Amino acid sequence: MEVASALFFIVDPFRWKTELKAQLKRRMLAAEVNIGYSTDLTEHANIKMTKQKTSIPSFRYFIHTFGCQMNENDSERLAGILEGMGAVKAAVLEESTLILINTCAVRQKSEEKLYSLLGRLDRIKRKNGALIGVLGCVAQLYRDNLIEKKPTIDFVMGPDNYGDLPDTLAGISSHDPQSKRVITRFSREWHEIADSLILRESSFSAYVTIMEGCDNFCSYCVVPFTRGREKFRPIRNILAEIQSLAKNNYREVLLLGQNVNSYKDPESGISFVDLLKTVNSVEEIDWIRFITSHPKNFSPEIAQTMAANRKICRQLHLPVQSGSSDILARMKRQYTRDEYLENIAFIKVLMPDIALSADIIVGYPGETEKDHKETLSLLEEVRYTNIFSFRYSPRPRSAAAGEEDSVPLEVKRQRLIEVQALQKDIQLSINRTFIGKNIKTLCTGKSKKDTGRYTGRSEGYQVINFDAGCDVVGQFVQVEITSCGPYSLRGRMVESKDACPH
Ligand code: 5AD
Ligand code: SF4
Repeated sequence: MEVASALFFIVDPFRWKTELKAQLKRRMLAAEVNIGYSTDLTEHANIKMTKQKTSIPSFRYFIHTFGCQMNENDSERLAGILEGMGAVKAAVLEESTLILINTCAVRQKSEEKLYSLLGRLDRIKRKNGALIGVLGCVAQLYRDNLIEKKPTIDFVMGPDNYGDLPDTLAGISSHDPQSKRVITRFSREWHEIADSLILRESSFSAYVTIMEGCDNFCSYCVVPFTRGREKFRPIRNILAEIQSLAKNNYREVLLLGQNVNSYKDPESGISFVDLLKTVNSVEEIDWIRFITSHPKNFSPEIAQTMAANRKICRQLHLPVQSGSSDILARMKRQYTRDEYLENIAFIKVLMPDIALSADIIVGYPGETEKDHKETLSLLEEVRYTNIFSFRYSPRPRSAAAGEEDSVPLEVKRQRLIEVQALQKDIQLSINRTFIGKNIKTLCTGKSKKDTGRYTGRSEGYQVINFDAGCDVVGQFVQVEITSCGPYSLRGRMVESKDACPH
């Protein structure tokens, strides 16, 4: 049936539009497939059943995701919406009749990945008339300009508009330039898309969005212009989603937002601390993580809540960006080096075993050798388990884009090498302290190369590769660490009746 439908699209590309309209109509008629808010993930199964019951051929989609966990979660949502319309995931890009690219604009390099992918898509489009949508942050940033610059694109959709995807698809054709659409509205209000429409990649670990947008306007950052102002998801919806995940055997939740610490329930005013305590009370969930925290909003109370509620993982991503107070002030980060370090010291007193991570930018305009050395010394002082480090890249509309990008590329490169080399040594020495210990590990998958080998994450979010006598994907196991590198730990599963019963 799928081959037949693919041929339809090749022979009659306009069939695409008719097909979508028919499927939309069908979806509306099928009472069990509803877009309203639901707390029951099994509703997704209903969508699938409805699809299987019908004889209308499916269209095949492919979603290419760049960027952060927020984008990954959005793509899971987009996939859920599409499958709710009767679409089927294509095995390879070349076979798809609908291609969505979920983009990242945080650095120039992330943006360029879109342009190189579009070249490849152009050829696919010419062959089979595939419909191409650019979504996410680059879409929101450039709007109409993007579609004018890249005619391969049929529609552009910003992150606040994914609920409009079915109607948008019904209104466009890849062969009618007049039908191209740009949907980049921002809303101040939270718009709930049913969590039943999320097609999750994992069956045991789930992203749960708690807020979106950012009001901080750090001088280098494009995010306030791509994700808009802060808005918070009602706590009752967050909790309903987590309870539903728990009922469906999920073990870990990762609370997502650009600045999770500023969370405030729009209905009751409940804070992030109360949200954490509430999530901690959902019995079946074992591990709770959250990302991203802003140092200026990271109160002692949050650290105390982490320490007192044992299901909240002893892991914290607290992006510092620079070790120099001068640079931090110019970045408009609203904290100094000392304030950041005081926060870290307090966190370590409460949780000596905490795994810390951060983002670092090197080569911000005007960064001197002295500023750079301060970043290196901060790395030595904090001793992060992991960092994400980047060369500064000017972004449109950000305040720093008006300043001269004064640090030469060669200097930025050299500083990034120094940051990464120092961090590599720190990580290696931290990882060595785990050798000989048994570590609770959530097994996330099988090794691609080696059967009998598995990969997972520790509570501190370190990668652990290990041998096990049976398939333990999705389970918590104890792993005895036998060796390590700077970026991962290696070991073997401690056999237990629970993990391998036979
Ligand atoms: N240049 C380089 N890195 C950037 N980041 C954000 N904007 C820029 C930029 N213009 C980094 C920050 C942020 C992470 C997600 O990306 O470190 O925390
Ligand atoms: Fe960007 Fe700063 Fe907001 Fe983070 S806090 S998303 S770096 S503006």
